[in-house]
Amino acid sequence: MPLPAARRKERSAIGAEHSVTSVAPAALLEIDGLRLSFGGVTALDGVSFAVRPGLITGLIGPNGAGKTTLFNAVSGMIRPHAGRVRFDGHDITGLPPERITKAGLIRSFQIARGLPTLTVIENLMLYGAEQPGEALWQALTRTPAMRRREALLREQAWQMLQRLELQPVADNLASDLSGGQKKLIELGRVLMRRPRMILLDEPAAGVNPSLARLLGGHIRSCRDDGISFLVVEHNMALIGDICDEVVVMAEGRCLMQGSFAEVRNDHRVQTAYMGRAA
Ligand SMILES: Nc1ncnc2c1ncn2[C@@H]1O[C@H](COP(=O)(O)OP(=O)(O)OP(=O)(O)O)[C@@H](O)[C@H]1O
Ligand SMILES: [Mg+2]
Repeated sequence: MPLPAARRKERSAIGAEHSVTSVAPAALLEIDGLRLSFGGVTALDGVSFAVRPGLITGLIGPNGAGKTTLFNAVSGMIRPHAGRVRFDGHDITGLPPERITKAGLIRSFQIARGLPTLTVIENLMLYGAEQPGEALWQALTRTPAMRRREALLREQAWQMLQRLELQPVADNLASDLSGGQKKLIELGRVLMRRPRMILLDEPAAGVNPSLARLLGGHIRSCRDDGISFLVVEHNMALIGDICDEVVVMAEGRCLMQGSFAEVRNDHRVQTAYMGRAA
């Protein structure tokens, strides 16, 4: 019987602690033949590709290519009709979102979520509270131990705000933030869960170019701390700037995978984009 892979704990500079296999797998996320239809619309038509650990991988493709649907299927929001998803060598196909999050794979949303009636720091604390094995009610109960836990969460949230240079708005209502600041908070909320890999859906949509560059810098610095990313984005300047590798989807399939330069110069990719525009 094969022995389980030896595991060790790693802690990144932002405090993300996670188990990693001592022999790094070639792929952290493997998507194999995923299929999914909405009635007569085939959104995923046998999409397969692999994402290597420690990289920022871009996922691009024309509108309707199936990118968000793929994120929904990978993160457990919709069950695919066929195919498998493996994360760190484990089959996570069809698991509920919370199980997938606890495994270290977490997604953000195209429209930044968050609770508008809470302050920015409370929003981050709420996410940090949802650590594996810890119920939210425990974080809110007023025993001395829980008060210490709340203080620790506040400290972690404060460190996150410092990292994202958002301390000045710590006590503002989340609903009062600009669109760009909400995007940064969304990244912060996801980071509070200490993920190994983040799926980002259009982090720079509706964001001005200088904030998009700032966001890109934060994503790169998280990558340097060991967090892997799969990033859906239509902003090609950002994709070219931050991505180590790019996957192109069109009509529910993977069209190609390569460097940004390879992808940009590929006639199949150009045709897919132009075909949609036409
Ligand atoms: N809930 C749904 N019900 C019916 N059809 C859907 C649903 N969600 C997505 N689709 C269809 O599935 C296909 C893929 O959509 P999806 O949103 O995944 O594309 P996308 O690549 O994310 O596009 P965009 O770049 O515009 O965000 C499209 O034809 C879309 O109309
Ligand atoms: Mg989408």
